[in-house]
Amino acid sequence: MANTQYKTLNNGEKMPIIGIGTWQASDEEIETAIDAALEAGYRHIDTAPVYGNEQAIGRVLKRWLDAGKVKREELYIVTKLPPVSNRPHEVEPTIKKSLADLQLDYVDMYLIHTPFTLFINEDGSFKLDDEGLMVPDVSTNHAATWVEMEKLVANGLTKSIGVSNFDQEQVARLLKNCKIRPANNQIEHHVYLQQRELVDFCKAEGVVVTAYSPLGSKGIAKFNAGAGLVRDLPDLMDIPEVKEIAAAHGKTPAQVLLRWIIDTGVVAIPKSINPERLKQNLNVFDFKLTDEEVAKLLALDKDLRVCDFAFFHGVERHPEFRFKNQYTN
Ligand SMILES: NC(=O)c1ccc[n+]([C@@H]2O[C@H](COP(=O)([O-])OP(=O)(O)OC[C@H]3O[C@@H](n4cnc5c(N)ncnc54)[C@H](OP(=O)(O)O)[C@@H]3O)[C@@H](O)[C@H]2O)c1
Repeated sequence: MANTQYKTLNNGEKMPIIGIGTWQASDEEIETAIDAALEAGYRHIDTAPVYGNEQAIGRVLKRWLDAGKVKREELYIVTKLPPVSNRPHEVEPTIKKSLADLQLDYVDMYLIHTPFTLFINEDGSFKLDDEGLMVPDVSTNHAATWVEMEKLVANGLTKSIGVSNFDQEQVARLLKNCKIRPANNQIEHHVYLQQRELVDFCKAEGVVVTAYSPLGSKGIAKFNAGAGLVRDLPDLMDIPEVKEIAAAHGKTPAQVLLRWIIDTGVVAIPKSINPERLKQNLNVFDFKLTDEEVAKLLALDKDLRVCDFAFFHGVERHPEFRFKNQYTN
């Protein structure tokens, strides 16, 4: 199988270093993509209730498991506690809903999706204030939520627990207030947003980092537009240095971007619904970047965040929201 490299977590569990991301794909697209990904050798799947596709993913997993084409222990399934459910009493019912949708008895990694919490109405829509902004639930208490996350491990509902979109101070605070140390922090990480301090801090503390939007999340443009945001976002696969390095190795820009991430000891979860691109994104183990090429890629850092959560209008009023907004609208 192509995808044979793993990161060993602080509890001894092994996470495949490349996974498939699943944000922004219809049920039909994701069913085809997960089938193609499993055929290509992917075993790590990253999802979340907010992606709206756990049921579709569950249908494919069931087919593969029932047919004996894969064993449950060979799969690595990650899902997340949504921003609207980031409260202690919601942890257990929320993972149970994900497990029912995924048709699994346990997941491999359960993450707190965001450090902030938002209110919703009974019908599931976001609660809005008089100005039309989403209402933050400022009662968020990571330590209290974590106690419930730890119970999930004890109850066998997940093998490992972690966080996502946490900054250094938030990880450090959790480390001081936990029995089970977080095994993973899933953050935006690519050549234009390298977050070296945060990555190095997590590594030093034994928290494996997963890079989301490792290819620059091209598809977010449509999503942002739907939320009324106009963004002039870069195409990482069009950066001259990346293209030059790709040409030198006979690889694609996407493969260079991914190889650079995994060489820094970070897990990557590129999303694709295209079978050829899926194969390409996994086929990154047969070439090596030179020191000079790595230096060129390191020099590209612009501290430029693509997924800034501005589509949660009003989220910046939550005390645990830490992204600085680089955009004016
Ligand atoms: N924790 C969080 O808050 C968070 C936030 C964002 C994302 N995530 C996770 O991270 C995953 C990846 O991030 P992302 O979806 O934002 O963006 P991404 O993986 O950086 O980029 C995906 C985009 O790149 C295209 N693409 C993929 N492979 C390609 C290749 N080899 N050549 C050219 N284009 C290629 C895809 O199009 P096609 O599909 O058409 O190939 C899609 O438009 C998500 O799907 C999700 O699972 C987590």
